[in-house]
This record gives sequence, structure tokens and C-alpha cells, in this order.
Amino acid sequence: MTKPAGLKLVERDAGGVDLAFRADVLAGLAEAQKAIPARWFYDDAGSQLFEDITQLPEYYPTRAETEILSTRAAEIAGLIGAGRAVVEFGSGSSVKTPLLLSAIVPSAYVPLDIAGDFLRASSAALSEKFPGLPVLPVEADFMRRVELPAEVADLPKLGFFPGSTIGNMIARTATDLLRTMRATLGEGALLLIGMDLVKDEETLLAAYDDAAGVTAAFNINLLERVNRELDGDIPVDAFAHEARWNDAFARIEMHLVARRDVSFAVSGQSFAMDAGTSIHTENSHKFTKRSGQMLLAAAGWEPLARWTDADKRFSLVLAESRPPRSAP
Ligand code: TRP
Repeated sequence: MTKPAGLKLVERDAGGVDLAFRADVLAGLAEAQKAIPARWFYDDAGSQLFEDITQLPEYYPTRAETEILSTRAAEIAGLIGAGRAVVEFGSGSSVKTPLLLSAIVPSAYVPLDIAGDFLRASSAALSEKFPGLPVLPVEADFMRRVELPAEVADLPKLGFFPGSTIGNMIARTATDLLRTMRATLGEGALLLIGMDLVKDEETLLAAYDDAAGVTAAFNINLLERVNRELDGDIPVDAFAHEARWNDAFARIEMHLVARRDVSFAVSGQSFAMDAGTSIHTENSHKFTKRSGQMLLAAAGWEPLARWTDADKRFSLVLAESRPPRSAP
């Protein structure tokens, strides 16, 4: 699959370094609470590890969301209608995207992702499954407004943002993204968005710290990616994966905790950490019906329908883009 001409690609320096990745890592490691934004998990290795996470017995969100999509397919399709161009924020995962695409009779499928190789592989697989459907992948950072392919310019859009990825952003960033999505998708757009629900702490912690250690490997891969791509010498063995529940913000946090005092360099800059301090790598906010609705409303999306799985672990919300209004 070739990239549509004229679209802005990831910016790299002469050595092939992703400039945004380097800027984010250097800024994050300079903070008092060190942090690396979660979006950088998803290089090809990270994307593969994440697919493995979705198969884990402890990781319920994928199964719960898939259950909603399959058991409510007819109802969801009835509300969305036929002929929309489906714009997925992130490249299609193995199960959910085909479920949606076969339910609704779409006019085109446009996956947006920064992980180019993974994007092209999953697009090719989808093309094979849906021979008549135009599949138009765009390698882009969807946190900024994306210029969609000309082929879909005049088609009504359905944004698809499964996996509760919205919960991986703090409220401010989530609101910015949801507003940016309205700009990317244009007037009259619908959005089908997955939002994981608040539940008991034990279930939540297990989902982000599985017995087989796959989530730990996913977290550690971020350090390996920094070493690989940003000329780092982080002693990866000196870090341990940790999942924490932050009740004040209703979120799971993932950290990489230094097991001992460590010092290392990244892109020629030196950093030091005391034993027990951490690099914060992920937030996964959990929602209630009200908090989810509030977040969508703050960005100009009006919920039209909402579904949960039978065990009420996960929600899927269909929302409609609304123009700004000043009246109550
Ligand atoms: N958005 C999903 C979640 O928060 C998937 C995800 C993102 C994830 N980062 C993760 C899952 C890290 C496990 C670990 O659950």
C-alpha cells in the first residue's frame, strides 16, 4: 500500500531519528516525576506485545468490547446507517474492526496510525477480508488534525476509537483529541468510542500486571525502544514494571521503578535516578456513565446511545458531533 501523496509524514532527522519521539523522551526524563507519553509504546514490537496483552486472561477490556460489538451489531448498525467512511484512530486490531465493518456496510475504511509498518500490514489483511471495500491507510499522528484522502472527502464519516485509548490521556489531552477528531471528521460526523469502566481495584490491577509478565514486557519495551532509536544506554534490567491504582484520578498508572540507583544517557544527555523512583509510562483512566458523558460533552460530542457488556465492565458510546451553542 503506498502512502497518499501530499500527506505529512513523521518528521525524522538525517539519522532517521523520530524528532517528536526524542523531544518527548528528553523532556519527560527531565521532569521531577520522570514520564514518557504512552503513545510511544506502539513501535512494531510494542504493537505486537499489545496484541498479546489483549489475549491475556486478566485483560478483560478487549473481550468485553468485542462482546458488545458482536451482540449489539444490529442495533449499532441501525443507528449508524450505511455508506459512511469509517475513520479508525489507530490501525485496526484483529477482531473489532472486522466486526464493525461487516455490521454497517461502510463506503471506505481509513485507518490512521503513526506505526507505519504495522498500519500497512493490518490494512493489507483487512483489504483481503473485505475485497470490495476501499482501504486507505494514512500514516499520521492523529493527535493533530489529519487531512483525509480525497476519495472520502464528500462521504459522511464515522470515527472509530475502540480500546478505551481515550483513557490513556489526561482530561485536557483527551478533550483536545476529541475536538481534533471533530475537525478531522467534519460536519455531521459520528463517533463510536470505547470507554473502560470503574470497577474493583483487584480486577483493574490484574489487568495491568498479568501473571505471565506480558504487560511488564510491553512496559520494558519502551526502554528498549529508547535505547534502540535514541542512542540510549539505559540498564533495562535495573527497572521493574509496576501497576498502581490512583483513586483521586480514577486511573491505573504504569511505572518503571528503578530497583537501584541508576545513571544513563539518551541522545547524549545524562540522567540519574535514585532507587525506588520511577518513570511514569501510562495512565488508563476508568469512567462512569456520567464522567464519560461529561468528557464527550466538553469536546462537542453528544452521546446518542451507550452499551455495556453483560458484566458491566466496559462501555461503548455512539456520539454525534455538535456545533457550539451558547443556549442551555
Ligand atoms: N487503552 C487500553 C488500556 O488502557 C490499552 C492499553 C494502552 C494498555 N496501554 C496499555 C493495556 C498498557 C495494557 C498496558 O487498557
